[in-house]
Amino acid sequence: MANVIIHHCPSLKLARERKETITDYSLVKISSFLSKYAKGKKYYIYTHGCQANYRDSEIFKGILTKIGFKESKDANHANVILINTCAVRENAENKVLGEIGNLKKKDVTLILAGCMAMEEVMVNELIKTFHHVDIILGTHDIAKLPNLLEEHLKKNKRIIEVNSGSGYIHERLPSVRDSSFKAFVNISYGCDKFCTYCIVPYTRGRERSRDPKDIINECKELVKQGYLEITLLGQNVDSYGKDLKKKYSFAKLLDEIAKLKIHRLSFLTSHPYDFSLEIIDVMKKHKNIQPYLHLPLQSGDDKILKLMGRKYDSKKYLSIIKVARKKMPDLFISTDIIVGFPNESDTQFKNTLKMVKSAQYDGAFTFIYSKRSGTPAAKMVDKISNQTKVKRFKELTSLLNQIIEKNNKKYLNKTYEVLVDSVSKNNPKALTGRMHNNKMINFNGSQKYVGKLVKVKVTSTHIHYLIGEMVK
Ligand code: 5AD
Ligand code: SF4
Repeated sequence: MANVIIHHCPSLKLARERKETITDYSLVKISSFLSKYAKGKKYYIYTHGCQANYRDSEIFKGILTKIGFKESKDANHANVILINTCAVRENAENKVLGEIGNLKKKDVTLILAGCMAMEEVMVNELIKTFHHVDIILGTHDIAKLPNLLEEHLKKNKRIIEVNSGSGYIHERLPSVRDSSFKAFVNISYGCDKFCTYCIVPYTRGRERSRDPKDIINECKELVKQGYLEITLLGQNVDSYGKDLKKKYSFAKLLDEIAKLKIHRLSFLTSHPYDFSLEIIDVMKKHKNIQPYLHLPLQSGDDKILKLMGRKYDSKKYLSIIKVARKKMPDLFISTDIIVGFPNESDTQFKNTLKMVKSAQYDGAFTFIYSKRSGTPAAKMVDKISNQTKVKRFKELTSLLNQIIEKNNKKYLNKTYEVLVDSVSKNNPKALTGRMHNNKMINFNGSQKYVGKLVKVKVTSTHIHYLIGEMVK
């Protein structure tokens, strides 16, 4: 341990404590030592996990660029490698651990950031077993990256800087956005829901809402720069503003941002407990808000929902779907579902299947429960075998696929506006894009359409995407 400088180590206990939210508007400063060091050097970033991590990686790119590093397209040619990690499930962590194992290279500064850096057990393990990880950086400590890098280079020691109990919001951090036409904008950080299975409140901290002025200014700037699409990000967008001194609702924020005339506006993720039907009214009012709602169900059984700490029941969930679909018949609704929560019985699992049939989803992400050390659910003694969980998982995805496939038929032979995302990975002549409601569609076309809005007629369907032809 002599070679390690520990500024702060993560603490799940501290992460639970609510601190006053402080917005920091100071600019990141770069020393001449670092600027000189970075000359001619390159960085590479691996990003795992959700959109919040992708947005954080844009900030890391901004900071590393400000220092003077250039981005490398290949990790093998990089002098600084940063891994932005996810801790939501064990398989995400195992992927990262494999990646770290493969990155034992001399003359590379290896930085581990993101949610795995916030776990006590994980950080102790990383310090002990992965001696080539030079800096471990917590999710609240992103702005300190230049100072920590400098300290590591000058002292030639490993540095651990993970503050769990932070209430800070850092405005004005530099960022290099991945896309010139689609942007993610954080509206809040962290989560106060503490669902019993979930590590996110510990890794991302208590919920902190950004000042609406800062969010609106960021969106205005994006519109000015010609962005076509903005996705507002929060672990639970519906509780936005509840922690602000001057209360401000998500429905109002959405309404204000839609008025800025961004071509497309959407938001992630909604929570059935905090969801207000006013949001549907705002969505209906503005043509530029995508008719797209991601509303995690997690389980269709009321007892399991209670054990999960979700604070709603199946009746409340279905009533939201019913009203939303009535008000917006073309609404695309997707969800997240966990199977195999500790001791989930067969009947309880069947209740999830029943809910899926009632909700008639257009898209879904399904997961097998993963035990997260430090969460309340991790203490539950689970009698259900992994084999049973896998069997249920397959049954659930097969039902969802049937429903989604059936729902896809309504798009056939109709023409939609599509924002072209990229050239397909498997076929250089094929493009992939998103329709008005976020549905994915693939079609043939030239690379010159990437970032443009085109019209596409749907010719056939696949479970996870549609297939179409561009029309002039
Ligand atoms: N195990 C499995 N899935 C989980 N999720 C969150 N925590 C866990 C866990 N411990 C899922 C939830 C959430 C999504 C982002 O990840 O469904 O909505
Ligand atoms: Fe995790 Fe629940 Fe918060 Fe979502 S709402 S991030 S599942 S604790």
